[in-house]
Amino acid sequence: MRDYHIPVMLKQCIDFIAPKPGGIYVDATIGGGGHSLGLLESCPDIHLIGFDQDSEALLEAHKTLFPYQDRVELIQANFSRMRTELAFRQIKTVSGILFDLGVSSHQLETPERGFSFDLDSPLDMRMDQSSDLTAEIVLNELSQKALTRIFYDYGEELNASRIAGKIVKIREEQPFKTTGDLVKVIESVVGKGTKASLKTKARIFQALRIYVNQELEILEQALKDAINIIEPGGRIVVLSYHSLEDRIVKNVFRSAAEGEEQTSEASFLNSTKKRKLQLLTRKPLQADDEEINNNPHSRSVKLRAAEKI
Ligand SMILES: C[S@@+](CC[C@H](N)C(=O)[O-])C[C@H]1O[C@@H](n2cnc3c(N)ncnc32)[C@H](O)[C@@H]1O
Repeated sequence: MRDYHIPVMLKQCIDFIAPKPGGIYVDATIGGGGHSLGLLESCPDIHLIGFDQDSEALLEAHKTLFPYQDRVELIQANFSRMRTELAFRQIKTVSGILFDLGVSSHQLETPERGFSFDLDSPLDMRMDQSSDLTAEIVLNELSQKALTRIFYDYGEELNASRIAGKIVKIREEQPFKTTGDLVKVIESVVGKGTKASLKTKARIFQALRIYVNQELEILEQALKDAINIIEPGGRIVVLSYHSLEDRIVKNVFRSAAEGEEQTSEASFLNSTKKRKLQLLTRKPLQADDEEINNNPHSRSVKLRAAEKI
């Protein structure tokens, strides 16, 4: 499991979720099962439901959690379907939910998946290998304007328009096939071997990955669904790895903590607000230096936790 992915801020996640015997807990992004294993080891008498859209991740999680197999159910689905999948199993509320967003080290380091700009591989970037949209289709078929928006909105890349322009020009001669083709274009715009060009490559690859997997579109609603599913006293913990994700988490948590205006006539007269969450982290927590040294993947993590009221 540790070769597949080292779970980030594991102790803090377990402490915040604080699993209790008999409770049902959801790992919305089970990956290699590292966080789930931690939850089960800290309190074996729970029922754990794990989601992942990647079939390879579920195979790995199955191996990791084998000793607890009678307490675990694994579901291959996007976490945007969590409410439906739980309702289908007659589960109305759960005691805690963990989201560990983004990709696993295994996904990043597997050349055929196309997530890494360090490896020359097919332009894939799908977490769910059965979905139709790949990075290759995006680069070869979207307009210059659409590509610019993706690089700017999802990568916050200032050279978005120049890079998109170059892509559109080059693909007239030769369609994009590999991550190496894309790296060459980025380097032709921002240069090679500098810290700045490394950052641009990371931002462009992040932007494409977010677009291919529709990561931000589904996050807000999935978090709202999760908050509704958790029982009073239950906890939600979210690990995010870039500012766009963290902003969504912060805003959803904040509005659930401040409460939304009631729309019914009776509550309008009293102008009450129904608060759903008590924040457990005013500011997001980050990994300490020791963890970052041992696991560079934890460098950018932000952990937010809250309790259902
Ligand atoms: C950072 S890894 C999780 C690692 C896991 N916590 C562990 O300890 O091994 C994120 C995982 O979530 C999955 N994932 C990301 N977004 C998802 C979504 N919207 N629905 C379902 N799975 C998702 C990815 O396929 C990946 O396996």
